[in-house]
Amino acid sequence: MPNPLTIAVPKGRVTRPLTELFERAGIDASALLSDDRRLTRDSADGSLRFLLLKPDDVPTYVEYGAADLGVSGRDVLLERRYELYQPLDLGIGRCRMVVAAQRGSVAPAVPRVATKYQHIASEYFARRGIQAEIIYVQGSVELAPLVGLAHLIVDLVETGTTLSENDLEERELVLDVSSVLVANRAQYKLRRAEVAPVVERLRRVLG
Ligand code: PRP
Repeated sequence: MPNPLTIAVPKGRVTRPLTELFERAGIDASALLSDDRRLTRDSADGSLRFLLLKPDDVPTYVEYGAADLGVSGRDVLLERRYELYQPLDLGIGRCRMVVAAQRGSVAPAVPRVATKYQHIASEYFARRGIQAEIIYVQGSVELAPLVGLAHLIVDLVETGTTLSENDLEERELVLDVSSVLVANRAQYKLRRAEVAPVVERLRRVLG
């Protein structure tokens, strides 16, 4: 097969539930589970190619057409606005983006907020009329309030374990997050004959 349909997928927590979802939909994604360092994985019949990427990079590969389809969290899509179709919510990778703080602490009127989600956080506080100072950090965001870098954080919560083990508490819900199927706008039309069956199969198992 000279030109397989290419699907960009995030490495990490979502890989397993995503593979299971593809398999339930009759899409051969078993190559995603093999434990090696290859960044491209092909289906057995060669009709599909998966690219294994950092979650933040998936929309970029799809937007530029290096992949036809991709799987991305709503958090990433909202933070950096891409020109993409979003035909389907996949219902996996569910978590929530929240404002959290050290248990019992009181934030000042102009709080410092540590987050990886600068744009979402600025908009959230601006909408609420709070003039927050947003401090960008890449990860381990939960540390920031513990060492005085910030009064609040905006971050993802799944089980709540990271917050509670760091003596933090959830204060406000910013948005609910899940994984979304994204598509390159041109390829969605040009490769419709190959893209549409993938979307339809997934839609059917999602009910
Ligand atoms: C995410 C998120 C929280 C944690 C929440 O980080 O940023 O830190 O998971 O999960 P929990 O509520 O189940 O404890 P991740 O482990 O993906 O790593 P990162 O901090 O490097 O992004």
